[in-house]
Amino acid sequence: MKKFKRYLVTSALPYANGPVHIGHLAGVYIPSDIYVRYLRLKGEDVISICGSDEHGVPITIKARQEGVTPQDIVDKYHGIIKDAFRRLGMSFDIYSRTSSPMHHKTASEFFLNLYGKGVFEEKTTMQYYDEEARQFLADRYITGTCPHCQNERAYGDQCEKCGTSLNATDLIRPKSAITGSTPVLRETKHWFLPLNKYEEFLREWILEGHKEWKANVYGQCKSWLDLGLQPRAVSRDLDWGIPVPVEGAEGKVLYVWFDAPIGYISASKELTPDWEKYWKSEDTKMVHFIGKDNIVFHCIVFPAMLKAHGEYILPENVPANEFLNLEGDKISTSRNWAVWLHEYLDEFPGKEDVLRYVLCANAPETKDNDFTWKDFQARNNNELVAVLGNFVNRALVLTDKYYGGVVPEAGELQPYDREVLGEIPKIKRSLEENIENYRFREALRDAMNIARLGNKYLADTEPWKLAKTDPERVRTILNVALQITADIAIACEPFMPFTAEKILKLLNTEKLGWDKLGAWPLIEAGHRLGKPELLFEKIDDSVIDAQLLKLENTKKANQAKEVRHTEPQKEAVAFDDFARMDIRVARVLEAEKVAKTKKLLKLTVDTGIDKRTIVSGIAEYYTPEEMVGREVLVLVNLEPRMLRGIESQGMILMAENAEGKLVVVRPDEKTNPGASVG
Ligand code: 2FM
Ligand code: ZN
Repeated sequence: MKKFKRYLVTSALPYANGPVHIGHLAGVYIPSDIYVRYLRLKGEDVISICGSDEHGVPITIKARQEGVTPQDIVDKYHGIIKDAFRRLGMSFDIYSRTSSPMHHKTASEFFLNLYGKGVFEEKTTMQYYDEEARQFLADRYITGTCPHCQNERAYGDQCEKCGTSLNATDLIRPKSAITGSTPVLRETKHWFLPLNKYEEFLREWILEGHKEWKANVYGQCKSWLDLGLQPRAVSRDLDWGIPVPVEGAEGKVLYVWFDAPIGYISASKELTPDWEKYWKSEDTKMVHFIGKDNIVFHCIVFPAMLKAHGEYILPENVPANEFLNLEGDKISTSRNWAVWLHEYLDEFPGKEDVLRYVLCANAPETKDNDFTWKDFQARNNNELVAVLGNFVNRALVLTDKYYGGVVPEAGELQPYDREVLGEIPKIKRSLEENIENYRFREALRDAMNIARLGNKYLADTEPWKLAKTDPERVRTILNVALQITADIAIACEPFMPFTAEKILKLLNTEKLGWDKLGAWPLIEAGHRLGKPELLFEKIDDSVIDAQLLKLENTKKANQAKEVRHTEPQKEAVAFDDFARMDIRVARVLEAEKVAKTKKLLKLTVDTGIDKRTIVSGIAEYYTPEEMVGREVLVLVNLEPRMLRGIESQGMILMAENAEGKLVVVRPDEKTNPGASVG
């Protein structure tokens, strides 16, 4: 086996258009953090790289939907994601972002390097163009009728009803999602990476050279390669991204999947002036942690780019995981079917390691897996509390009781003691082999086996029965139990860093390196321990029921949404009826929450006619600060109504977005308060 001097570990850069959920964690981030923490404990030279992926069409769509800029969107989610990762104990050496100047520069230079070598093919293709918006339309920006199932809301790249992947030109009655107009086909020039030219190299490198890759990864690469590779466009007509840095490329940016993996390089540059040592030496082991939907980009496209560039090493392994489902259903951001990390952290303070444990124990390493709240509860109560917490607590409490919290001197070890202690180096070897081969579930089981061993040892030796008759034996047993406790602190650090720290605190000991695992003695006789405290607590049914109820409500909201979309149009009204409504543009001057309500905001608005008070049920969707200064539409001649003791003089018009959230309706262009709507 090749010996490496250092490690470069990357974790897929999450898109900054939504928060991170448990599927991302189980698939990518938990395994990657276990791996790098393990390497660091072993004293290896390792850098762990991650950051936000901030380009691409979905971000521009979200920005348009919310009436803000793409930069606003990525700033918001970059903050949420970065903070949530930190709170979960993710130990990236850097969490960067692809909107950073360093990344723009690095990605441009990378493109120019390949461009200068004549790597790209330039091709002119026909693409849909919105004449009203005066821009080319990304496939996601075009909707129309699916030619296969007649779904009228299919996208230019896929019909989500029948799952068929489409070309925008396949759609019947295509419509621009920006203006609603019918787009026309126009010529546009793009740069293509000729993957076909790298096919032979890739076949050799992966299919011959990396037979050890996980079966799911190897299999997916093989089927791509067997189908034959085609040139892929690395530019797009879009105004959000990294401009294509050559002449004649106005209005074009690098395709997000071209720039995103280069983000690993940019972040390394930001991290250390020594970055080239990691990226350009054959004795660096580069490992990409990703989810299965990223395999082609990390095993085929990015390696072809690196190869074309010529100065960079290629990944040694790409241990992609499969998907995690939630309570039997596919996790979905748009249907809000997820457990969001930032929400979990708020709702389960101090239980970061419980989530880390459950997601690793149940990781979709070889096939898709299911997260259920019942399983979460069972693993916490039956494994973390009953096995790990229980053993550590017994060792500490017994020492406290019999020896006032001071590590007792061991007498002569008996064969059974030696047998038990002899198990630890064996477990250690298995643990190492499992982590080094990306079998993190097995590795976690190994770590827990040390606690199981400890529990069995105490159950077999029953020191509490010997206190009076054989004090020397009790000293030995507790000394052994405390050594095992210290072993657990080392072995569980990669998986549960908060727990490892707590155990070290209980033992009143500094952090121990991996080489100490299985060594004897780890803690000297006479050493004073910390105060015994419980590591984990049981999770009650009521807590689990609350989470299940939350999901149940999501389901109901989704069903209601589907019904709403197909609701028939209301009965016809005469024009005069409509004309009786006086709707005006208004500006919000002040806003505050109505005390003791969840939903109501009290707003003072300038209607152009007067200043008046309106009580609106939008507090769940907008903060008072977000409302102040906004333009809104107000039905001003609605009869006043008393709401919570406040007279509401009118109604603000709202629309419901795809997630069931109410959003303010406002004029497309600047108008003044008082402008009438009709
Ligand atoms: O699938 C995703 O979430 C992508 N944003 C991953 C990018 S990984 C890398 F190439 F940056
Ligand atoms: Zn369809």
